[in-house]
Amino acid sequence: MAIDNSFRCSICGRRVKVQSRADMPVLDPATGFGICKSCIKNIYQYIEEEEGTKTRTKKNNFNSRLGDLLAKNKPHVIKEYLDKFIIMQEHAKKILSVAAYNHYKRMKYDLDNPGAEDELDKSNVIIMGPTGCGKTAMLSHLSKLLDIPFAVTDASSLTEAGFVGADVEVAVRNLYYAANKDIEKTERGIIYLDEFDKIARKSGENNSITADPGHEGVQQGLLKMLEGSAVEFTERGQRKHPEAPTIKVNTKNILFIVGGAFVGIEKIIEKRVHKDDTGIGFGSEIPSKVDTDSKFNELIHQVRPEDLMKFGIIPEIVGRLPVICTLEKLDEDALLRILTEPTNAPVKQYEKLLAMDNVKLEFEEAALRQVAKLAIERKTGARSLKGIIEDVMLDVMFDIPKHAEPRRVVITEACIKGEEKPQIYPIEEESTEEPA
Ligand SMILES: Nc1ncnc2c1ncn2[C@@H]1O[C@H](COP(=O)(O)OP(=O)(O)OP(=O)(O)O)[C@@H](O)[C@H]1O
Ligand SMILES: [Mg+2]
Repeated sequence: MAIDNSFRCSICGRRVKVQSRADMPVLDPATGFGICKSCIKNIYQYIEEEEGTKTRTKKNNFNSRLGDLLAKNKPHVIKEYLDKFIIMQEHAKKILSVAAYNHYKRMKYDLDNPGAEDELDKSNVIIMGPTGCGKTAMLSHLSKLLDIPFAVTDASSLTEAGFVGADVEVAVRNLYYAANKDIEKTERGIIYLDEFDKIARKSGENNSITADPGHEGVQQGLLKMLEGSAVEFTERGQRKHPEAPTIKVNTKNILFIVGGAFVGIEKIIEKRVHKDDTGIGFGSEIPSKVDTDSKFNELIHQVRPEDLMKFGIIPEIVGRLPVICTLEKLDEDALLRILTEPTNAPVKQYEKLLAMDNVKLEFEEAALRQVAKLAIERKTGARSLKGIIEDVMLDVMFDIPKHAEPRRVVITEACIKGEEKPQIYPIEEESTEEPA
């Protein structure tokens, strides 16, 4: 019966205040018979699960969506997208575009041919190249484009089970969250393991011959995931204890991309190449020629699986990373382009920031080249570009908002060198100097 417009649900017995129809979708005020919203929801869910319609529609939706995704994300389209953000690294952009497209294809094949014995194998990818050359940036842009779950995990934060730190399962758990806790989606996602070189065995050729069980343990753990296994983990924030419910994800169809700088691998490659050329083995003194960027670029592209093993990656893992993708060191011209060309180029970003204060920002060509030169000196690839400009822009960004009238700021080579402060001009001056 109605008391203050509230009715008792005939199923759960709860009293519900009915302000709109949705509060009690089934209701006969005359008899007082009613079913509340949450009971209706429960019944609906029960029917769906019982009949399996939920999973079937989801699968069908995904299957038809996959067709669209395949048509939409052809390799040349993915590369064109990456081109907007990443300068140079043509080979790497191609490899990743094909890897992503093939990942879609494998999923489609799987769904179209359930249980087929001739399923398509996945090709995990390893990306290497010097610091600040665009590895992480490229993957993060790729993840924005692809309509599948994608999670980045820092491999250097992983530890062997039982040690302090994150277990390797964390990589899958991150993907599970990226997939909005949908296990089916998780099982088709892409995991990017960044800083992968940091878990190299210290006893690799590159290092001293001390045992390094921690890192090798992490590699063994990762190996299981790469091979495809059921990984179990608990929800975030729940420490592993027997009662915590676990989530099970099969990694068989997850695409793994691992990346890192692999500092020093060029020396391993150089040694091998020299040995191949001359037949002289290790130990013979050869002067290193890896001092120029072009030599570095030439060598890095010749990397072979055995070089990775010498670096300290266990052979079983190397064997499961069939696609090797190498990135180049960026020279001054490339850095100059990175400053201005990409959609999110630092210069464009500062222009937009200052435009919001009615100010037109101008960089002289020589100033930009000076920024690139300084970045080369700092040896951190494109990473230091933004910092160098930020230093110069600090005073400008502090002073500009004090006034509202339109102005323009000119950044010269001397500003970048720290020899003079950026000049701020009233905009009228510009119109008298340069007639439109
Ligand atoms: N080829 C490139 N084109 C455009 N921007 C780039 C390029 N390379 C690097 N950058 C920019 O430089 C910054 C650092 O690059 P990124 O983080 O990708 O380096 P990385 O290769 O992952 O280095 P590390 O090995 O040290 O992790 C990013 O902000 C990125 O936007
Ligand atoms: Mg990185």
